[in-house]
Amino acid sequence: MLIEKNVPLQACNSFGIVAKAHCLVRIGNQAELQRLLAEPESAAQAKFVLGGGSNIVLTGDVKPMVLKVEIKGRRLISEFAKAFVVEAGAGENWHDFVAWTLAQGYPGLENMALIPGTVGAAPVQNIGAYGVELQDRFDSLDAVDLQTGKEFTLNAAQCAFGYRDSVFKHQSTSLGLAGRALITRVRFSLPKPWKAVLGYADLERKMLESGIAQPSAQQMFQWICDIRRAKLPDPALIGNAGSFFKNPTVTPEQCADIIARDPKIVYYHLADGSIKLAAGWLIDACGWKGKSVGNAGVYEKQALVLVNRGGATGGEVMTLAKAIQTSVYERFGIRLEPEPVVV
Ligand code: EPU
Repeated sequence: MLIEKNVPLQACNSFGIVAKAHCLVRIGNQAELQRLLAEPESAAQAKFVLGGGSNIVLTGDVKPMVLKVEIKGRRLISEFAKAFVVEAGAGENWHDFVAWTLAQGYPGLENMALIPGTVGAAPVQNIGAYGVELQDRFDSLDAVDLQTGKEFTLNAAQCAFGYRDSVFKHQSTSLGLAGRALITRVRFSLPKPWKAVLGYADLERKMLESGIAQPSAQQMFQWICDIRRAKLPDPALIGNAGSFFKNPTVTPEQCADIIARDPKIVYYHLADGSIKLAAGWLIDACGWKGKSVGNAGVYEKQALVLVNRGGATGGEVMTLAKAIQTSVYERFGIRLEPEPVVV
């Protein structure tokens, strides 16, 4: 097993931040991971699991041993009257996997096309876009406990999915698995018959413009790619981690209070009676769009996305994030919570 030393991580994080891993091991399959965990010296070291690096901010060199998950493989596991069950290795690129499922005739993931990152990272923050979250298509996953080496399988309830949240984001004091588990494979249940998930304004606009009232899954995939490319920066060209903050949830009373001061605020009613506010609107309203702190900036077309304008450090990104949080709190009394993991 090759333990690489002083490995540059710039190409391994979508923000493109310059940092190094003191040591890094590429995990191509479960046997390699088991071998590593069986070596006493490696077993004793703290570990950091790295997928596509699309949801992290590196604020310095990474001291724990970095496990770069490169487990591949995609296959149909079973087909039932009501669903296809498809499995992918945690190291598969998410978007390529979505495109593959469609090409094979297993639709259902198209609304989540072009989300950066890997299959294994997708359940960690329960990725979602355009009305579909990973939990809506999730079957189960396999993982390895990095402390004991034990393999285990979790269903959706055990993953405790929430909005951009799961058991993998919480520390192990309660039942959390943050820093403790390495996801090896994920299975998806893609419902039959397939039905387009529409309803988002951007998709309704595509239907009107094209005159297509009943889009195919492939058409939906294309529209989602077009919509995302129009308003989100391509991490290959401009470093970023997608939405930097979660959309905050408030009570109807809090929302009424904000509407009284700012009638133009964008909000959505949730099924449980609470209200979700568009964080992008709040940040935009505070005048941040296009602004910078050092080499970190707020994307011109979407205030929810922080970008690396070239050579930004993790410190600059976090200074900008904190300044945004302060001004949104001072104006609206709302605390924005970051989506990415700060390392
Ligand atoms: N808005 C502004 N100014 C801005 C940005 C947004 O006024 O600079 C307003 C717009 O009026 C818009 C509303 O805010 O109607 C919401 O914006 P948008 O539709 O772009 O969606 P979002 O809430 O910013 C969320 C997810 C995205 C996901 C889209 C589509 C979060 C934190 N973000 O963004 O997910 O692609 O909806 O479903 O939930 C991600 O998590 O990385 C991500 C990109």
